[in-house]
Amino acid sequence: MTERTVLGIESSCDDTAAAVVRGSAGAAAVMSSVVQNQTALHADFGGVVPEIAARAHAERLDDCVARALEEAQLTLAEIDAIAVTAGPGLIGGVVSGVMCAKGIAMARGLPLYGVNHLAGHALTPRLTDAVPFPYLMLLVSGGHCQFLIVSGPQEFRRIGGTIDDAPGEAFDKVARLLSLPQPGGPAIESRARDGDAERFALPRPLLDRAGCDMSFSGLKTAVLRQRDKLMQANALKAVDQADLSAGFQAAVVDVLVEKARRAMAEYAPLTEIRSICIAGGVAANKAIRSGLETVAAEFGATLVAPPLALCTDNAAMIAYAALEQMPHRAPDGLTLAARPRWPLDATAPAMLGSGKKGAKA
Ligand code: KG4
Ligand code: ZN
Repeated sequence: MTERTVLGIESSCDDTAAAVVRGSAGAAAVMSSVVQNQTALHADFGGVVPEIAARAHAERLDDCVARALEEAQLTLAEIDAIAVTAGPGLIGGVVSGVMCAKGIAMARGLPLYGVNHLAGHALTPRLTDAVPFPYLMLLVSGGHCQFLIVSGPQEFRRIGGTIDDAPGEAFDKVARLLSLPQPGGPAIESRARDGDAERFALPRPLLDRAGCDMSFSGLKTAVLRQRDKLMQANALKAVDQADLSAGFQAAVVDVLVEKARRAMAEYAPLTEIRSICIAGGVAANKAIRSGLETVAAEFGATLVAPPLALCTDNAAMIAYAALEQMPHRAPDGLTLAARPRWPLDATAPAMLGSGKKGAKA
């Protein structure tokens, strides 16, 4: 297959990223991947502020692209195509990236590929582990939560997702309720280690409903109620923080594991070589990973978890998705539009809610 060198650009949320990927579908290498996060800019606001994010992307993109080329030891003359996240995400940020990509494409006469951010995440296991199609994908981050059956570079079937908060968002909100630092996921995971997960009865939302849809907002409210009850008597003690962290994490694990089991049951008949892949910041959680290992084993599947730097938002996944899709689609023209919402699977029913990090698509 033809080898190509693609410059990728990502700016759909709070990470400004550029990367160079070289190769072809199922056989590509990351030459460079630069990610500048904006955590400090948004820290005072309790969430990503879209206007601040968009301005920061616009200011930083040029530098990110220059660094990605420098780290890859390449010049624009050696780039064959430009790939950019064209949605879904915070629209100001997506527009910043698309405009930057159009500028480079026009100046150099290069083909331009608008890529769906979720397709970038969903195709990453092929970049890192050359996982064969079809595979089951669980995207779990601060902004996403969905099960997908990935059957080709542009064939995604969404078989379930959250109807409200994404799990990472729930980890972050619960950490705030318990006066733990942000990001909440690692803080809760480490407190949970010393906690008693059984002390508080917390709900396992939607387990009683068939299918793979999930909900995490009620679980967060249940933690809030328990916390308020405890605080009527006293200030929250370290043991309370630990027990609530453990109880919350155990509930998230139970929901993800049971829904993954149902997703697996739907996916397993499609292939003998079975893989369940995870991506997103929440995939770093050891309790969640070990729960998913168990489900994978039940179905004779392999659990594939790409390295965290490629699991969280980055531009290498966008460049790679373009490499995968190139043989099957035409490039976009300079009329490429930025899209705040862009479901991967247009046939799946629309998802409710849109979290602090923008539309979940
Ligand atoms: O994919 P990601 O880096 O970014 C976006 O969603 O934009 O995911 C970040 C999310 C945060 O909500 C963070 O709390 C969560 O991933 N996270 C974790 C862990 N590490 C990060 N959640 C649970 N356990 C962890 N160890
Ligand atoms: Zn993402």
